[in-house]
Amino acid sequence: MDTKQVYNDNAKKWLRLSPSSLSDFTARPFVFDACGELNNRSVLDIGCGEGYCARELKLRGAGDYLGVDLSTQMIEAAQVQEAKDQLGIEYRALNVLEFVPERKFDLSVAVFLFNYLRVDEMQLVFSMVYQSLEEGGQFIFSVPHPFFPFARNKQSAPFYFNSTGKNYFADVDQKFEGEIWKRSGEPLHVQCVHKTFSDYFDCLRDAGFNTMPEIKELTVTPELIAIDEAFFSPLKNEPLHVLFKVTK
Ligand SMILES: C[S@@+](CC[C@H](N)C(=O)[O-])C[C@H]1O[C@@H](n2cnc3c(N)ncnc32)[C@H](O)[C@@H]1O
Repeated sequence: MDTKQVYNDNAKKWLRLSPSSLSDFTARPFVFDACGELNNRSVLDIGCGEGYCARELKLRGAGDYLGVDLSTQMIEAAQVQEAKDQLGIEYRALNVLEFVPERKFDLSVAVFLFNYLRVDEMQLVFSMVYQSLEEGGQFIFSVPHPFFPFARNKQSAPFYFNSTGKNYFADVDQKFEGEIWKRSGEPLHVQCVHKTFSDYFDCLRDAGFNTMPEIKELTVTPELIAIDEAFFSPLKNEPLHVLFKVTK
């Protein structure tokens, strides 16, 4: 299924002003915390969607903010919200594979973008990010945990990727279709172009990053189970997402 079509068709379902889908609880808060004090730092947000993370990071003190996304409908939703909020976020509809930023940034974030790109495409984007970062700038991104589609192949709420018949090593670059649920009970269609852990580290090194990335493997926390056991407990102890943070 075509990624642009998936997001154009579902932009209304994605638009949210408070945490809604599973990963708004299990991943994005950790991305925000990893960004630390923003102190007016400039941010490039690739695969920004309808701007959920952009709004949060801007409210946490980010400076010059550019969000880019492939889906015209997601960008339109982001711009409609920006017209109401007047936070000072610039949004552009474009394919990140063809994007050459005309300015440099202190921080680049990519929240669940790379699960839509093949390894060679991710390599291209990592290189673009490296070039567009100031010296000492940071690159923070989250992706589905590479083991998740294999560790949990039960196709049920609140999150799965269909990896039936697929292999961790042999099926790199294959697209697995999946769904992630909102706490309201509504599923969202998501995709995972599979990569191994080595692919992420190799691509970072080949892009020019030569410091050790910090990584955080994310799962459901006991605090989340305490809030909503029925929703979160099916994923207890599952390897859900990985957060990478690396400095230029
Ligand atoms: C799971 S959504 C995440 C959106 C946002 N980062 C968030 O956390 O809410 C993935 C986004 O990546 C975008 N995307 C996928 N491929 C892209 C590409 N080649 N260039 C730019 N954006 C892309 C999709 O349009 C979609 O909005």
